[in-house]
Amino acid sequence: MRPTKDILGALTGTVTVLTSFVAASQPGAEQPVPGPMRDLIWGKLNFLHTTDTHGWHAGHLLEGQYSADWGDYISFAQHMRKKADDHGVDLLLVDTGDRVEGNGLYDASKPPGKYYYDIYREQHIDIICSGNHELYKADTADREHEYSVPNFRDVYIASNLDYIDPKTGERKPMARRYRKFRTKNQKLDIVAFGFLFDFTGNANNTITIPVQQTIEEIWFQQAIREETDLFVVIGHVGVQMDEFKEIHRAIRQHNPDKPILFFGGHAHVRDATQYDSRSFALASGRYFETIGWMSIDGELKRKEKHGDLKRREETSSLSFHRRYIDNNLLGLYHHSGLNSTTFHTEHGRNVSAMITKARKELNLDYAFGCAPKSLWMSRAPYPSEDSIYSWLETEVFPDVVVNASRKDIPRLVIANTGVIRFDIFEGPFTIDSTYIVSPFTSKFVFIPDVAYSSAHKVLKLLNSAGRIFAESGPMDNRFMANPEQFAIRESIIYDNIVDSNGHQKPMDTHGKTVLTPGYTTRDDVGTDGDDTIHAPINFYVVPNCFQAKIGISKDEEPKNVDLVFLDFIKPWVLAALDFLGTPYQDEDVLPYVEERFTDMMAGWIEKNWPKRCDENGVCGCK
Ligand SMILES: *[C@@H]1O[C@H](CO)[C@@H](O)[C@H](O)[C@H]1NC(C)=O
Ligand SMILES: *[C@@H]1O[C@H](CO)[C@@H](O)[C@H](O)[C@H]1NC(C)=O
Ligand SMILES: *[C@@H]1O[C@H](CO)[C@@H](O)[C@H](O)[C@H]1NC(C)=O
Ligand SMILES: *[C@@H]1O[C@H](CO)[C@@H](O)[C@H](O)[C@H]1NC(C)=O
Repeated sequence: MRPTKDILGALTGTVTVLTSFVAASQPGAEQPVPGPMRDLIWGKLNFLHTTDTHGWHAGHLLEGQYSADWGDYISFAQHMRKKADDHGVDLLLVDTGDRVEGNGLYDASKPPGKYYYDIYREQHIDIICSGNHELYKADTADREHEYSVPNFRDVYIASNLDYIDPKTGERKPMARRYRKFRTKNQKLDIVAFGFLFDFTGNANNTITIPVQQTIEEIWFQQAIREETDLFVVIGHVGVQMDEFKEIHRAIRQHNPDKPILFFGGHAHVRDATQYDSRSFALASGRYFETIGWMSIDGELKRKEKHGDLKRREETSSLSFHRRYIDNNLLGLYHHSGLNSTTFHTEHGRNVSAMITKARKELNLDYAFGCAPKSLWMSRAPYPSEDSIYSWLETEVFPDVVVNASRKDIPRLVIANTGVIRFDIFEGPFTIDSTYIVSPFTSKFVFIPDVAYSSAHKVLKLLNSAGRIFAESGPMDNRFMANPEQFAIRESIIYDNIVDSNGHQKPMDTHGKTVLTPGYTTRDDVGTDGDDTIHAPINFYVVPNCFQAKIGISKDEEPKNVDLVFLDFIKPWVLAALDFLGTPYQDEDVLPYVEERFTDMMAGWIEKNWPKRCDENGVCGCK
């Protein structure tokens, strides 16, 4: 990236240390934490991007780093839009899906999303699309169609997604296939698409059309021939995934020098890349920890159509910039040039109040118990006493994964690491926490009396490179782990990945500045993407699956065991058993425990962790 002069006067690499203190928006949320900042660099066209928010619209109440809420984002966007207007440039807001599932604010109501749809719609968004989580369950897809699509009527784009009307059975596009519009200040013509990766796990009331097929369709071929200044492709697609590269290739074929901007998600990482020098792609993290910023500057307006070849040679260079804005009130104040008195707009405050009311009605702060210490997914090695997987394996599973009629039969209990979606922090473990930590409906199932000689090899196969699964159709075994792990194994995005042997880089002590731990992103553009300069957090690679051995003594191997596992991983377990020469069928797999995994975990916590935290939310346990 060649730094160009920032049109609003801020300089690349300017670092400001924030010092003011404020109250966060949701009552009880952690105070936002200050840190050294990199400024935003504006261009003629600028974007704010959210993705994979998964219901975290109340912000992270337990992490001051990310404790701003959706109302604060609304205030922020209002100020930034005004700033753009004042300088005659444009600001657009983008969201790329997976807005649902993963937080009590969405999941805890009956039906899910009773409050979420009304809260979310308050933000003014310019381009929006679906993620896979909007589509796993038929009723979620129905609600997406019934509420979100009309809430974002002209800006919801479904380039490769169809919906089947439950009443008529008619198949039709979920929303419009593309959008052509003109920006307010620069009068730039934009053709925008909204894609989903080639997803096959959806309920039967939606249909994802593969990207390869979509780009051959007549409407798409016409759309990429529209008279326009630039293309904006948003999608619930990882920016390193082939789907975006295919779309880029298709558009570029007919538009040799037009800028093409991509906004992606799904991989839950901060990432940016370029498919060529006149394109730029941004992915903006997960769980409303990150608000992505992209700007483009240079000669954006198309010229009259003559002397095509000559014009191409003269094409001026473009400059692109990106920032990963921590969803931190102090940072939002900083970027908008305001403070706690001047920042919060009436609209923003109203939406924060809607969220507070919803959280109260859902009783999300009810505590099952008080976590005596933090348990980590990937910030601690596995196995270790701070690993959430070690805790489940050694403490929780032996207690709760029990079927009364088979309690004396030795068993292997296998779960996939992906069943856990978030860390447990020291302090209250609430109703909200259950949805945050494990939002899934998985239950334990089992195959009775499997030869131990075979059963004890299953785990190793599930965690191996996946050769044996490749032949079994679309069952990449990485899907058993979390998307973050998925991305890490593919490419180096963070500075500080620790391999399973525990090799790691030592932490920096950046002079005198005290840095809070957080994202230290390395992407294809460089290492200056994060708006806040952080101390790195260790990221440990964890396996696809982990296992508890229950009722099995070290000295004497049993002949047979019950092989117990989460229903989600059934296809892989069956394939592994098959590979080991002990094939079983679908109908050999029986229910083991009626309760959902998530409820079992909450039940264990209620029984085993102290009930009370002191008034500061700190555990008085031990
Ligand atoms: C989807 O599956 C359900 C349950 O199997 C069935 O009742 C329904 O008719 C199916 N719908 C469509 C559109 O195929
Ligand atoms: C915020 O800024 C305004 C205007 O510059 C000033 O009057 C006010 O005192 C500031 N408030 C705080 C809390 O710093
Ligand atoms: C905020 O809420 C108040 C009270 O419900 C309402 O009168 C006002 O119009 C709302 N303002 C905005 C900007 O939404
Ligand atoms: C225990 O296992 C048996 C055999 O699969 C099953 O019929 C029963 O429902 C299970 N019990 C519970 C509580 O799930």
